[in-house]
Amino acid sequence: MKKTALITGASAGLGVEFARQLAAQGLDLLLVARRKEKLEEVSKSISEEFGVDVRNVSADLSDPAAPRTLLTHVEAEGLAIDYLINNAGSAGPSLFEEEDWAPQARFLELMMTSVTQLCHHFVPPMRERGFGRVVNVSSFAGRLARPAGAHYGPSKAYLVALTEELALILRGSGVHASALCPGFTHTEFHETAGMMAMKNALPGFMWYDAATVVRDGLRAVERGKPIMVSGRLYRWLDPVAQSKLFRPFIKSMIPGR
Ligand SMILES: NC(=O)c1ccc[n+]([C@@H]2O[C@H](COP(=O)([O-])OP(=O)(O)OC[C@H]3O[C@@H](n4cnc5c(N)ncnc54)[C@H](OP(=O)(O)O)[C@@H]3O)[C@@H](O)[C@H]2O)c1
Repeated sequence: MKKTALITGASAGLGVEFARQLAAQGLDLLLVARRKEKLEEVSKSISEEFGVDVRNVSADLSDPAAPRTLLTHVEAEGLAIDYLINNAGSAGPSLFEEEDWAPQARFLELMMTSVTQLCHHFVPPMRERGFGRVVNVSSFAGRLARPAGAHYGPSKAYLVALTEELALILRGSGVHASALCPGFTHTEFHETAGMMAMKNALPGFMWYDAATVVRDGLRAVERGKPIMVSGRLYRWLDPVAQSKLFRPFIKSMIPGR
């Protein structure tokens, strides 16, 4: 039977690449992001290129009501979600430079609560059917503390912890969960966050393309690998970053904001 993937943050960057690679495997897609026009463009081009059914729904995942609304939409459309790709994310506000609490709360909702709630809604039916794939897009920034905005990295570290535990609970059920931890990747992320000066200052070897990162993530979840650090450079740095001895050296290499 044909499988369906729900992909969040599918109007740009890694989300579009997830959509393309899963469509190339023959999956039907439900794409989610805020920008409806972008979603329509991506949906049209992927359905024309790969001949799969591509639907989309506009939702702001920093709104606490959004995950429940998505579930209602999926049920109304009669869809079964076999692949859940929790990819939407942004650099977010700095904890201290942004004085209002409301944008901070919305950021945490987007980065952690919405991901957890989407797992809550969509993983149990996968387990009942005996098949499912969940990719939670974390970051190398979740693997070590940096002098950055104070909660982007921690929110990504939460996704690693959540996914490792999910993978343990789901062992033997046919449902696999992987946290994908990319390093610096060419997408719209840094431009949207006003971080182009930092991007331009970093050497080319620290950057990967979206296709490589997504390929790593999909391969990891097929193999049931709970944590996938993407890119040879970051895979090499990761064990060093986890060692107390070398952490200060790695921290000095990876810039904050
Ligand atoms: N690029 C990197 O260097 C890098 C490294 C490590 C991890 N990551 C992670 O990779 C994931 C994808 O980022 P990307 O690099 O592909 O960035 P991107 O090109 O900026 O894409 C981000 C996507 O998330 C969506 N999004 C943002 N806020 C949203 C919200 N409130 N509700 C719903 N959708 C929202 C955006 O769509 P709309 O604007 O249309 O809503 C867009 O589709 C993120 O979780 C990011 O933290 C990126």
